[in-house]
Amino acid sequence: MGINFTEFKDQAKRILNIDLDGYKLDRVERRTKSLMRRYQIEDFDQCLDLIKNDSEFKDAYLNHFTINTSEFFRNPENFEFLETEVFPKLFEEKNRVNIWSAPCSNGSEPYTLAIILKEMGISPTKFKIYATDLDHTILDKARRAEYKENSLKNVSDKILDKYFKESSDGKTYVLSSEIKRLVNFEQTDLINARFKNDWDLILSRNFFIYLTKDMKDQLINKFTSVLNPGGYFFLGNTEYIFSPEKYGLDKIFQSFYKYEG
Ligand SMILES: C[S@@+](CC[C@H](N)C(=O)[O-])C[C@H]1O[C@@H](n2cnc3c(N)ncnc32)[C@H](O)[C@@H]1O
Repeated sequence: MGINFTEFKDQAKRILNIDLDGYKLDRVERRTKSLMRRYQIEDFDQCLDLIKNDSEFKDAYLNHFTINTSEFFRNPENFEFLETEVFPKLFEEKNRVNIWSAPCSNGSEPYTLAIILKEMGISPTKFKIYATDLDHTILDKARRAEYKENSLKNVSDKILDKYFKESSDGKTYVLSSEIKRLVNFEQTDLINARFKNDWDLILSRNFFIYLTKDMKDQLINKFTSVLNPGGYFFLGNTEYIFSPEKYGLDKIFQSFYKYEG
């Protein structure tokens, strides 16, 4: 008899160097099985063998397991709050504002921040936007900054005309280099990495939904340990922190928490 899912997961996590136990396991199993169906893989042994020996399949597994869905101005009301409430306060209080998008997926999220700051007329010397993700394939896409219309549905015509150039076949839009150069990307596994400190705004949106309760708790502690007092923590629309005061956080708007220290 071949290995079961638990045995597969325990071996796969060593080969992939990813703590699969931090993720909701029923979801990891579902994603694994759906990829196996797509590749007509019969059992977990064969799947493991491919992860070990076929680097293309290994990448496909990682790609399938990490959901990369993202878009510019995702949940626009939150970006409006950021622009009208959070940024004005931060830039009044600080000479330089440090922002971290973690995870950043295809770059739509950190580039949205860069566009807002550019539109607000804030000098690039006054902020840093750092953006990280586990998945190196999606980071390559982020650096290329070429998007299909589905990533741009919340972008106004004015912003589209100003900062994007339509490709010659009309299928994609390329972001201007004046915005691209405002974001620094780096590959980071948020579960294993030691975090850099000194952040005034951390976005960790649409990531906790994939994690176990314990891992979410550990990560909130890790994120708040590197947030400056008075800094902000910005989550996805369907993500909540229960008892935020336990982490020194105060909920101030839909998906925004302020770190009181
Ligand atoms: C749904 S996207 C969220 C992107 C963006 N924050 C947003 O809300 O539009 C989730 C991202 O989490 C990344 N991810 C999954 N596990 C990770 C880990 N351990 N460390 C860093 N990034 C991870 C995936 O590669 C994926 O790009």
